[in-house]
Amino acid sequence: MLTLGIETSCDETAAAVLRDDKVLSSIVSSQVDVHKKYGGVVPELASREHLRNLLPIIREALAAASVTINDIGLVAATYTPGLIGALLVGVSAAKAIAYAQNIPFIGVHHGEGHILAAHIEYPDIGYPYVALLVSGGHTALYHIKGLGEYRMLGQTRDDAAGEAYDKVAKLMGLEYPGGPVIDSLARQGNPETVKFPRGHLGGFDFSFSGLKTAVRNHVALFMSKDEGIDSALKKADIAASFQSAVIDTLVEKTMLAASETGAGKIVVAGGVAANTLLRKRMQEETKKRDIELYLPGMFYCIDNAAMIALAGYLHFRRGERSSLDLNPRPSMPL
Ligand code: KG4
Ligand code: ZN
Repeated sequence: MLTLGIETSCDETAAAVLRDDKVLSSIVSSQVDVHKKYGGVVPELASREHLRNLLPIIREALAAASVTINDIGLVAATYTPGLIGALLVGVSAAKAIAYAQNIPFIGVHHGEGHILAAHIEYPDIGYPYVALLVSGGHTALYHIKGLGEYRMLGQTRDDAAGEAYDKVAKLMGLEYPGGPVIDSLARQGNPETVKFPRGHLGGFDFSFSGLKTAVRNHVALFMSKDEGIDSALKKADIAASFQSAVIDTLVEKTMLAASETGAGKIVVAGGVAANTLLRKRMQEETKKRDIELYLPGMFYCIDNAAMIALAGYLHFRRGERSSLDLNPRPSMPL
């Protein structure tokens, strides 16, 4: 069974081909250069770029898998959440292929795709587990009891962690997307320099907007006293201090979720799961507690279509499929 996966929810145009649950090809084309000068994703430009790039990317994915469109038995596409115009491009293409080829179509929740990405490299992972989903659009903890059986334990009440990285990078005059830039800058900084606040909400909810404001205030103070924060070293210290506040909270709540649910396994998913400090801290803390940690490789942390194809395939295998009337939706809880 060959599945074609399509992902166009934000600023990556991606297509992948899977044979059952094995990835034959996964092509990702980033639009980052188009959006960089605006300091964030411009929705209309994203839609146009997807329109321009999607068919060539699909052809590339088919060629890399050494198959043709006639070999495909299922087409899966992200239908929620995301930028509506961007989602529309991927969903319309997927439905058109399904209709023309007379094959089933299945719409996939982007967040579910991120979580199930762990199953690409760890097909025997099994259930249940706790999943921390951290990306530009999500920050949430789930108790994953089985395919489609997801209980949200908590989520951010304001900004997503990736969004906080991107906004803090912008206010420090760093490039978009901020996550990877702050990640590497922080390695040269001292995380003890500034004690930024940790969002101490009870339970499993997160909050990063107070932290973002604290960084903004600190930068403003710094600028007036020292005539700018151009010194790479100072920026590195702020980056490291900010990052340590974000990661402390993510790690602490995830460990609490594992202990409260009794789950012996943790999956970390989404773009922020590519973060060096988060990966290191998760490894240390799970080792101490004898918990199994499943971290997708970097390539499967950021947006990709292999995770979408896999999620679609796993649902299809259970007899599910979507109607061709399914329309994209900007948001939808998982
Ligand atoms: O999952 P993703 O590619 O797209 C969404 O579904 O949002 O995540 C993108 C987010 C961005 O906010 C980006 O800054 C962040 O993930 N990110 C990182 C790192 N790499 C990407 N954040 C922290 N450290 C990183 N190394
Ligand atoms: Zn994503």
